Amino acid sequence: MQALPSDVPCSLLSRWGILFSHPRDFTPVCTTELGRATKLAPEFAKRNVKMIALSIDSVQDHLAWCKDINAYNGEPPVEKLPFPIIDDHKRDLAVKLGMLDPDERDGQGMPVTARVVFIFGPDKKLKLSILYPATTGRNFDELLRVIDSLQLTAYKKVATPVDWKPGDSCMVVPTISEEEAKSLFPKGVFTKDLPSGKKYLRYTPQP
Ligand code: BEZ
Repeated sequence: MQALPSDVPCSLLSRWGILFSHPRDFTPVCTTELGRATKLAPEFAKRNVKMIALSIDSVQDHLAWCKDINAYNGEPPVEKLPFPIIDDHKRDLAVKLGMLDPDERDGQGMPVTARVVFIFGPDKKLKLSILYPATTGRNFDELLRVIDSLQLTAYKKVATPVDWKPGDSCMVVPTISEEEAKSLFPKGVFTKDLPSGKKYLRYTPQP
């Protein structure tokens, strides 16, 4: 096996990534979304997640729009947001990654990017994708919640149930036997009785 280069910091090897596209700069919903993403940037950093935005607008537009986003947030104007926005005016990446919305077009009749979210793990593999239409803004707190679930379940043999949030009980995954569950989860496993008699609804405190 090839040795890892010694100059690569450990944090980079464990770094996650989020790539999120929006339809156009200088539009209302997009401004609220990137404003929220800006406010939550320290939360993404805490989780070691590198943020990258993307739209089909130019770098010049991105830089000018940053000032509006900061004004929307009630902050003094700054030159840059805490994350880069890719200039994909040629739509190269958007086409490759299937991010274009065929129903939403610019003034020239060309499709614009939908509200797409891709989350990548440290292995650079896609862990989650979400697609919203232009008319529905995303919830960036929900993105942090799914990152918490993705990171927990990447390292522990649990799954997170509906509406889970950090600190809530988790589910023991079906592939784990009762014996194995006992040793893996010393805080205990609670199995809910069900009409089927099957013992698959197993909860354990978050490991
Ligand atoms: C918006 O960000 O407000 C928006 C952008 C494109 C289509 C519809 C809404």
